Amino acid sequence: MPVIEWTEDLAVGVPSIDEAHHQFVDLLNMLPGASDADFPGLFAKLAAHSQEHFAEEEQMMERSSFPVIDIHKAEHARVLAELEQVQQQLEEGDIAAARIYITDQLSAWFVLHRNTMDYVTAAHIQRTSGSY
Ligand SMILES: [Fe+2]
Ligand SMILES: [Fe+2]
Repeated sequence: MPVIEWTEDLAVGVPSIDEAHHQFVDLLNMLPGASDADFPGLFAKLAAHSQEHFAEEEQMMERSSFPVIDIHKAEHARVLAELEQVQQQLEEGDIAAARIYITDQLSAWFVLHRNTMDYVTAAHIQRTSGSY
């Protein structure tokens, strides 16, 4: 069973954000079944994808003058720091901790973040600038 099931309910209505979120969910779902040999590489891919997506979302927030951009950016920065920390643990060989982080923390974070900050941001982008 996937950690997160992608359904249209997860869409926020801005195609580029939805596409990136779908890719995030696909990558996340590959991690629990990955072998210890494949796990670090896949994790690095998910971290790089997140970094790219957050930057893209932040550009959209800037272009649409999203009023609470700083709060949303700070949350992205917090998660990127977390991903970096887990990547460090992986380099030290602690794959078990990284597996727990994926299934217990990052998955729940994604759904919460989508339901709150990303949802509100997407609504603002659609209201002010149309869809990207
Ligand atoms: Fe976000
Ligand atoms: Fe997002």
